[in-house]
Amino acid sequence: MDNHNNIHSLEMKFQSKIDAEVKIEPKDWMPEAYRKTLIRQISQHAHSEIVGMLPEGNWILRAPSLRRKVALLAKVQDEAGHGLYLYSAAETLGISREELFEQLITGKAKYSSIFNYPTLSWADIGAVGWLVDGAAIMNQVMLTRTSYGPYARAMVRICKEESFHQRQGYEILISLSRGTEEQKKMLQDAVDRWWWPALMMFGPNDSASTHSEQSLKWKIKRKSNDELRQDFIDATVLQANYLGVKLPDPNLKWNEERGHYDFGDINWEEFWAVVNGNGPCNKLRLKARKKAQEEGAWVREAAMAHAEKRAKRKAEKVA
Ligand code: 3HC
Repeated sequence: MDNHNNIHSLEMKFQSKIDAEVKIEPKDWMPEAYRKTLIRQISQHAHSEIVGMLPEGNWILRAPSLRRKVALLAKVQDEAGHGLYLYSAAETLGISREELFEQLITGKAKYSSIFNYPTLSWADIGAVGWLVDGAAIMNQVMLTRTSYGPYARAMVRICKEESFHQRQGYEILISLSRGTEEQKKMLQDAVDRWWWPALMMFGPNDSASTHSEQSLKWKIKRKSNDELRQDFIDATVLQANYLGVKLPDPNLKWNEERGHYDFGDINWEEFWAVVNGNGPCNKLRLKARKKAQEEGAWVREAAMAHAEKRAKRKAEKVA
């Protein structure tokens, strides 16, 4: 059978595995384009987790109580772990951590737009937990069923920790909503600034999505960007009502016929400006990420030296 027919039959077999809900594992044959789009998505997810530590880390030293500080520390530490699982999942597709880091720092790889906004008050930490982690959970619960085995398994662990993240954020906001007028104003200001960027996390409308059609066919995605965004809005409006905050969208209204909330237009100009590096904090985030990588070089070298020494000692024992 000539090469073209051979590839075609492999692709057919691959798609029938996907259709039969058989997880694809690192050693399985897969179309190059499947591998490529997975490296793209998983690595950008990992970059988002690590860069996402920065806006919140900014408030660890300024948390209003020891209890809040401990919860925020635990959350930021979890995000580092999520980045680790996801970089490891990306590495199973044949790319090194160094290459992934290079792609981030040179701007070749993206990370979630949301992390290019500043955290201006303590209420922002609550809004990030409630809205950003809430949006991430909506997306990541779906990804626990993604067709690539290592990615799906990483998601199961991540989702368990994300629910704590969302809850600690919402609890911060509940305390503020029951506080002084000043605190209520701080709460409303944070929600006003984080609501629309949180909706943008789900990506462009389906009609403008480059990858969704193929990702849905390969069951990398199980729901489209717009479906997930709608699920998030439907779930979050009720929580906002309980908080007594007004979501900054005059067009937000329950549509009985659709069984969903109607909502206003997203500012896609802002979205693409932020995605393309011109958000409020893009340069700051990449500069901090680069500095952390440089300052952490000695830890990586020490860990590698230790691992090599142990491997050498083990080999001498066996010899
Ligand atoms: N920020 C930055 N870039 C975005 C974006 C966003 N919010 N939404 C979409 N894009 C980019 C895509 O990466 C793609 O660019 P590329 O071809 O250079 O990769 C382009 O815009 C077109 O978007 P598509 O809809 O075609 O892209 P996808 O099919 O990949 O869908 C996605 C985008 C829904 C974000 C998908 O990639 C995904 O589900 N990723 C995994 C989840 C993830 O990365 N979440 C980010 C937040 S993680 C987080 O919040 C951590 C938590 O602990 C707080």
